[in-house]
Amino acid sequence: MTDISETSIRKTETAANPVQKADIDWANLGFSYIRTDLRYIAHWKDGAWDAGRLTEDNVLHIAEGSTAVHYGQQCFEGMKAYACADGSVNLFRPDMNAARMQRSCDRLLMPQVPEAMFIDACKQVVAANLRFLPPHGTGGSLYLRPYVIGVGDNIGVRTAPEFIFAVFCVPVGPYFKGGLAPVNFIVSEYDRAAPNGTGAAKVGGNYAASLLPNQEAHARGFGDCVYLDPETHTKIEEVGSANFFAITHDDRFVTPKSPSILASITRQSLLVLARDRLGMDVEEGDVFIDNLSAYKEAGACGTAAVITPIGGIQNGEEFHVFHSETETGPVVRRLYEELTGVQFGEREAPEGWIVKVQ
Ligand SMILES: Cc1ncc(COP(=O)(O)O)c(C=O)c1O
Repeated sequence: MTDISETSIRKTETAANPVQKADIDWANLGFSYIRTDLRYIAHWKDGAWDAGRLTEDNVLHIAEGSTAVHYGQQCFEGMKAYACADGSVNLFRPDMNAARMQRSCDRLLMPQVPEAMFIDACKQVVAANLRFLPPHGTGGSLYLRPYVIGVGDNIGVRTAPEFIFAVFCVPVGPYFKGGLAPVNFIVSEYDRAAPNGTGAAKVGGNYAASLLPNQEAHARGFGDCVYLDPETHTKIEEVGSANFFAITHDDRFVTPKSPSILASITRQSLLVLARDRLGMDVEEGDVFIDNLSAYKEAGACGTAAVITPIGGIQNGEEFHVFHSETETGPVVRRLYEELTGVQFGEREAPEGWIVKVQ
């Protein structure tokens, strides 16, 4: 494994000292793995994290009995770094990702990563991979994938003796192809989480459980599934790997509240932007699947999905179209512009939302 010293890392991009960008077709970036130069890795043993370091090695060498492999003792985060017009680089609310990962670690009996260590690791990874940061104006961003896994020799169902915290990055374009164009979704007959299970934690098991429903939705021509609440199957919870929101005919922003959904940082940000920038009433509450006609627009939101307008939802035999299957509604568009404007440094950010990498 090659360790990289701090001094070999390019930390700043200035007009006089531009970073030589990787040979990537920025305009057509999707959401696929691209090996970048350096990633961060830290180990936990005997009650403490080590100092962590950057490495070129993109392969983990872990014990065969690792709890992450057998019992799904792992969690992860998803966040992005954004290139600004002035050459600086924005992280969007990384303290929220750090806090959510701590909650996921608590739920799976793993040691928390301190917020400062989490944010520092993210900054190091971005600074070390600036040539992969999609240039401002391309719409792309550098996706960061922090994770914690249980490792070390073990066989019983118990918490691991050792852990790894690592962060790698991948340049990405929009998650759903077609940019800000509506996508249709289908209500799944599967549940992604149990009522008192791990739905609120960002743990791999939730995503393993979503692979089959996702494949079935794709096979039927839909972007992904809509998951209903696992207790009554009457209320919308999530849209694939994104939260759901909708706009009522009298311009209220409504998004589900439930203990089994993942608390999306994008959704929490939209609640603030809709209220403070668009002057809307906002509400976290129930969105009943048999009452979709109460909404004139709807969207899926998340770090990867950004804001994806929802064209229509197939529920059994019924197909409900919101604004349009081909056109993005005006409220969803304004929310998208406000959110991405803040993320890319084009619009003023609410206090504390942006952390500069350099
Ligand atoms: C299941 C699920 N819901 C919602 C989200 C959106 O969360 P965020 O806005 O924090 O990315 C994600 C992605 O992280 C997710 O995986």
